Amino acid sequence: MPELVLSTDLPLPNKRTGKVRDLYDLMLPDGEAGILIIATDRVSAFDVVMQNGLPGKGVVLTQLSSFWFDHFSGGVEGIKNHLVSTDVADITGISDKQRDSLRGRVMLCRLAEVVPVECIARGYITGSGWKDYQSTGQVCGITLPTGLQNGSRLPEVLFTPSTKAESGHDENISFEEGASSVGTELMSWLREQTISLYSRASAYAAGRGIILADTKFEFGMLPGGTGKKAPILIDEIFTPDSSRFWPVDLWCPGQEQVSFDKQYVRNYLETVVEKGDWDKTPPGPVLPDTVIDATMERYLQAYKGLTGKDMLFD
Ligand SMILES: Nc1ncnc2c1ncn2[C@@H]1O[C@H](COP(=O)(O)OP(=O)(O)OP(=O)(O)O)[C@@H](O)[C@H]1O
Ligand SMILES: [Mg+2]
Repeated sequence: MPELVLSTDLPLPNKRTGKVRDLYDLMLPDGEAGILIIATDRVSAFDVVMQNGLPGKGVVLTQLSSFWFDHFSGGVEGIKNHLVSTDVADITGISDKQRDSLRGRVMLCRLAEVVPVECIARGYITGSGWKDYQSTGQVCGITLPTGLQNGSRLPEVLFTPSTKAESGHDENISFEEGASSVGTELMSWLREQTISLYSRASAYAAGRGIILADTKFEFGMLPGGTGKKAPILIDEIFTPDSSRFWPVDLWCPGQEQVSFDKQYVRNYLETVVEKGDWDKTPPGPVLPDTVIDATMERYLQAYKGLTGKDMLFD
């Protein structure tokens, strides 16, 4: 059983904390600016961090992201990403004991200027998209055919960007709103990459019996060869925190899908909200052990299903 890591306290500069990750500045071996990204075991749902975590979740997220970065880095359609190393030996300025405690959950990355648009691709309708559709017949302003059910496959993959809110909830925006913030050229590139990455990963996952229902990417800008900044893929990709994974043999539109992702936590939390015991504002409730275990089980199933390997914690 891996050790639970809910927070970190390293003697490195400029610590920032996201909902799930702790970030520090760390120079890369080539002398360029780097960022140390540590995936803790914190669980966030509805943009609120829960009080307890899932032991080893950060390791699963890191190993899966690393698998996918590798998967998409080669070939003519390869896309540049921020990952430099997942080896704790590359973290300078901390003790051996600290290094040991971070094994499996670190990504040493190129420090990028984060593009303030979350790039979401949806091939199936569920979650907030399903709620939108039920009340307006649209998802993020895109009109859809009538008769779709919760979990239906969409006629085409949708690009539904949202803002990257500093605090609180991200808000859906139209392509044009995104373009007015980051420029039309970059926004078009984000849309193209988002749909292409989603489509390729979906085809890969389908071959392994898994539906990739939707996913979210972040991109960042780095100085390019010509001195002009160029976008690269950053953050995490195709993890059960950033994506919905459904076993294809249990897929059944018209209901909540069986899933290998955070949906299990969200469903539990909705029952807490229904009972009037939580209103989706911080602090989050304590997750019962049964929910922790069942969710972790799903994260491990996602890892094994997608990579073909058992997750080994050392
Ligand atoms: N290469 C990079 N350079 C700079 N910032 C990065 C890079 N990669 C990721 N980030 C940022 O690091 C943070 C990761 O932390 P975390 O995932 O906990 O964030 P969050 O967005 O608060 O949570 P959530 O993913 O639940 O929305 C994000 O704000 C992301 O934009
Ligand atoms: Mg994040």
